[in-house]
Amino acid sequence: MAAHLFAAKDHAAVYQKYRFPPPENLQGVILSYLEKKKVTSFHLAVDVGCGTGQSSHLLAKRFEKVVGTDVSEAQIEEAKRAAHPPNVSYLVCPAEELPFEDRSVDLLTAFTAAHWFDIPRFMKEVDRLLKPSGCVALSTNTLDMRLHYKGCSEKLTEIFREVKGQLFPYSNEKIKFVTDDYKAIFDSLPFQDKERITEILDKLPMSVADLMGYIQSFSQYQTFLKAQPDAAKSLIQNTEQRILETMGVSSRETKLELCTRHVCVLGYK
Ligand SMILES: C[S@@+](CC[C@H](N)C(=O)[O-])C[C@H]1O[C@@H](n2cnc3c(N)ncnc32)[C@H](O)[C@@H]1O
Repeated sequence: MAAHLFAAKDHAAVYQKYRFPPPENLQGVILSYLEKKKVTSFHLAVDVGCGTGQSSHLLAKRFEKVVGTDVSEAQIEEAKRAAHPPNVSYLVCPAEELPFEDRSVDLLTAFTAAHWFDIPRFMKEVDRLLKPSGCVALSTNTLDMRLHYKGCSEKLTEIFREVKGQLFPYSNEKIKFVTDDYKAIFDSLPFQDKERITEILDKLPMSVADLMGYIQSFSQYQTFLKAQPDAAKSLIQNTEQRILETMGVSSRETKLELCTRHVCVLGYK
């Protein structure tokens, strides 16, 4: 299991601080799907691999009860510590053994998490837990990311691409699910009624400091940090310096835009 990648307390803290919630366009895709399928029961949503809970909060607006689950105690501790809506609770448990009754869940989600699971065992749980007419939404952000700032977007994107290239050797083999745009995950979903959307685009304004924090939240960066702490810290320092120089600014609070592409696999039982 690759879950140990998110087990460290300091990684969970970086995660809570720098990860952003699923983008509005992705939320829109999921809500439109529920509408299209004429879902009328909004009792229980389960957000599997919820990390520090940013994704679970969003479901709380629509569902009476939301349970965020994660195999990492450190992530769930951070999730519980952070402010969260009163109808959201958290549980430590693996995605492959979810402690809910058969046919009890209206919506099951996993945001940037399903590729870490044991897919055949997780899919059995999805089938077991969903009510008839229940839905599942499994999404991830892809490796396609661009940076935008005034006239230097190409140069900034190239710097970011180089950083991702340096971190790529520290990727877990599960990255293959992301690089194939969740096609294998889509194929494994045991429902006839399903679809895969691969062009969900998002633009996120963030400061250079936040961008550096976001890079440090990558599991590849955490693996690199463990293997070569000095080299990992220098990568962040050098990248920040290169980005500031390219932008022609000195403050790490200067805002730029991170453009991302997300994919989502949707299914209806
Ligand atoms: C990239 S994070 C995503 C967190 C959150 N959904 C978000 O969008 O910010 C992936 C999460 O999946 C969890 N995870 C990995 N393998 C798991 C498993 N087998 N069962 C449950 N959670 C798992 C990790 O602990 C981690 O918190």
